[in-house]
Amino acid sequence: MLDLRLSVAPMVDRTDRHFRYLVRQVSLGVRLYTEMTVAEGVVWGKRERLLAFRPEEHPVALQLAGSDPKRLAEAARIGEAFGYDEVNLNLGCPSEKAQQAGYGACLLREPLRVAELVQAMAEAVRVPVTVKLRLGLDGQETYPGLARLVEGLVEAGAKAFIVHARSALLSLSTRANRAIPPLRHEWVHRLKEDFPHLPFVLNGGLRTLEEALAHLDKVDGAMLGRAVYEDPFVLQEADRKVYGLDRRPSRLQVAWRMRAYLEEELQKGTPPWAVLRHMLSLFRGTPGGKRWRRLLSEGRSLQALDQALRLMEEKVGEEGEEEDPHPKGHPLPAHPFAG
Ligand SMILES: Cc1cc2nc3c(=O)[nH]c(=O)nc-3n(C[C@H](O)[C@H](O)[C@H](O)COP(=O)(O)O)c2cc1C
Repeated sequence: MLDLRLSVAPMVDRTDRHFRYLVRQVSLGVRLYTEMTVAEGVVWGKRERLLAFRPEEHPVALQLAGSDPKRLAEAARIGEAFGYDEVNLNLGCPSEKAQQAGYGACLLREPLRVAELVQAMAEAVRVPVTVKLRLGLDGQETYPGLARLVEGLVEAGAKAFIVHARSALLSLSTRANRAIPPLRHEWVHRLKEDFPHLPFVLNGGLRTLEEALAHLDKVDGAMLGRAVYEDPFVLQEADRKVYGLDRRPSRLQVAWRMRAYLEEELQKGTPPWAVLRHMLSLFRGTPGGKRWRRLLSEGRSLQALDQALRLMEEKVGEEGEEEDPHPKGHPLPAHPFAG
C-alpha cells in the first residue's frame, strides 16, 4: 500500500535533491517528489546529475513529463533502476514550453493518448505509476469528464491520482495558473466518493499542516507545495501527527544537519549556493530570521553559514526557545505524550 497521506509537491527549481534532503530532516515520513523531469532528458541526458539522490530521501517519487510512450517507458525504467519508489506522470504543467513539446496539461485534451502513456510506463516498471493532473483545461472542465479520465487511466495502470484541484488555463503564465483558476477541492472529495477503492491525493492552496490533515477523512492524501518552500517548518508536527513518530525537530537542529550535509556536498564539488539557497527560509518568522537570510544570501559560503548559525544560537539562547536545548544533533527530547 502506498502511504500517500502527506506529500511535498513536485516543483521545478525548488524540489531538487538538496531541498528534498532539507525537508527530510524536518519530516521522516512525508513523501517527496522530484522536480518535473523530461523523459528525453532522462534517456539521453546526464542521468546521474538529473536522478541521483540520497537513500535518506525515501520515500521519493520521480516525476516525469513527456508525450512519447517509448521514451516515457524507458525513462520510468531508468528511474526505477535509480531506486525511486514511484514514477509520476505530469499532466498539469501549463507552460508554453510544455505546450510546444506536447506534454503536461495540454495532454488532458487527449485522454486516449494519456492512457497509452500510462500503460507504457506501467508495463515498464514494478513500482507504482501515478499521475498528477488538473481538473481539466481552459475552464471547460466537467466533473463527468474528469471521472471518465480517471476510469480510463486506472484501466491503463495508474495506481493513484494526485489532483491539483483547478483547471489549467493554457493562455496564462504558469504563475497565474496557480492563482487564477478557482480551486474546487470538493471535486477531489467527490472522486473519492465515486471511486472509493482508488487512492486520491488533494493538492492546491493548502497552507498549513492542519488544513492538509483536515482533508484526510475525505481523501487518501494531501500534498503541499508553496507553503513548504516558503517555510519547511509547516511540516514540523508532521511526524508526530501523521506518522506516530516521537519527533519534533527544531529549526536549529535542522540547520546543523544541513551544515554537515553542505560540508559533504562541498567535498563532492557542489557549489555552496546550490544548497544554501534552499535554506534561506529556515528561520522564517522567527527572531533573527531576516538576518539569517541576509547572511546566507550575501556570503554564499560555509563560513557565512557558520556565522549565521552562531547568530541563531545566540537568538535561541536569548529567546529561551524551549525547543532547542541540544542543537548539535543530540537526540531530541522525548515528547511528553510519547507512550
Ligand atoms: C515554483 C513551482 C514549480 C512547480 N513545478 C511543478 C512541477 O515540476 N510539476 C508539477 O506537477 N507541478 C509543479 N508545480 C505545481 C505544484 O506541484 C502544485 O501543484 C501547485 O503549486 C499547487 O499546490 P500549492 O498550492 O500547495 O503550491 C510547481 C509549482 C511551483 C510554485
